[in-house]
Amino acid sequence: MREGRLSGRLIALGVTGSISAYKAVELLRLLTAEGADVVVMLSPSATRFVGPLSFAALSRHPVESDVLDLLPDGRIGHIVIADSADAIVVAPATAHWLAAMANGLSGDVVTAAALATSAPVVVAPAMDGDMWTHPATVSNVARLRDDFGYTVVAPESGPLASGQTGVGRLAELPAIVDAVVAAVGGRPIRQASAAARPPVVDAAPRDADLVGRRIVITAGGTREPIDPVRYIGNRSTGKMGVAVADAAIARGAAVTLIAAAVEVALPPEGHVVRVETAAGLREALRDAMPLADALVMAAAVADFTPMAPSDRKISRAGGGLTLELSPTPDLLAEIAALGAGSGDGPGTAAPILVGFAAETGGLERAPEKLRAKGIDLLVANDVSEAGSGFGTDTNRVTILDRGGTVDALPLMTKREVADRILDRVARALDARDAAAQTAGMHPDMQEGRPA
Ligand code: CTP
Repeated sequence: MREGRLSGRLIALGVTGSISAYKAVELLRLLTAEGADVVVMLSPSATRFVGPLSFAALSRHPVESDVLDLLPDGRIGHIVIADSADAIVVAPATAHWLAAMANGLSGDVVTAAALATSAPVVVAPAMDGDMWTHPATVSNVARLRDDFGYTVVAPESGPLASGQTGVGRLAELPAIVDAVVAAVGGRPIRQASAAARPPVVDAAPRDADLVGRRIVITAGGTREPIDPVRYIGNRSTGKMGVAVADAAIARGAAVTLIAAAVEVALPPEGHVVRVETAAGLREALRDAMPLADALVMAAAVADFTPMAPSDRKISRAGGGLTLELSPTPDLLAEIAALGAGSGDGPGTAAPILVGFAAETGGLERAPEKLRAKGIDLLVANDVSEAGSGFGTDTNRVTILDRGGTVDALPLMTKREVADRILDRVARALDARDAAAQTAGMHPDMQEGRPA
């Protein structure tokens, strides 16, 4: 168990159906980072915004979402939580949930557990501005705070899901964590025994280490038109990039796969954007990157494009053909240059950037490419080697990082290479979050995100 302000504590996180329910995944991470054992309860409408799988995988406890469900051992889930949690934190709490709670209506697991517990309860509302100021909500909040003794972490002012600006955005996550820490205060731990707490589900770390992470992956080769019939292409089949997408999805990431020309099946899950040219890929990246936590740039992007593609088929009757080519921008270097500004507002954490380097005859140029592109990781391989490179199912790569570490991996399947790359991405993201927390700025504290 990690040392922190909530070490040894069981915290029950109740999530209700607000657009900001996705932030609860990050709140779970923050509570865990404080050393808490966290168990999650979802109201029925919350399950329409976020799936229980992410929460179960990260919390290592079954998620309670049905007030009538029993635990596998026959115990009543929300009562076990009510009796063993050191605090219940409801974030986000909708106007509907506040009303139900103020009136003791225990129709969902979150209200039921709150009614049944003697532990402190922390509530972080999130809703539209007019709903927040409605007299019904005002009196429900007052009842929770003044009559029940709950801690209310008031919503903040900012852009709301409706497009309007007002008070209603879920409070900043570190403020909610602080309120939980304050609520448990110096109280003794209620149930230190694991047997008295909700059961533990086992999840191999790789099955879940990218839950809540948004990863953009590019795959395949771009095609630069010469005329409507012909193009300049390359030998990339997209196998490596698609393997990274498959692996990232299996590890719980929300994946956007930007696919140029590929010769393999695309993953049925995940969001796929098809592109043809380097310019199209550039545009797709511009759309996808603002919310991304990481980019794995496996696409073989054309370095040159015909300066003036003909809009009619060029006839052989003209004799020979000379094409004038202009260089394409280095897309990865462009994104790296944006740095922390590539997110959607000031203070946004910079995404982790992974590039590939297809070399022939040795990897001597790789360290300089990593440095020149300004990226975090470079996956280099010698495509002239047997078993490596285009169209093969295997690859022998060397992963270089910013810190100068060089990890020469043996020949392995592209899927295994994908997992090795994602191991490094997951670690880098955890380190980024930890650094942001130390600096008092969590990556989720971004202006401009919906409440
Ligand atoms: N890349 C890119 N934009 C380009 C060309 C390449 O973002 N216009 C990316 C590729 O997706 C890959 C990495 O840069 O992740 C390395 O590509 P590579 O062709 O090996 O390197 P180059 O920068 O093109 O250098 P060189 O041509 O000297 O080998």
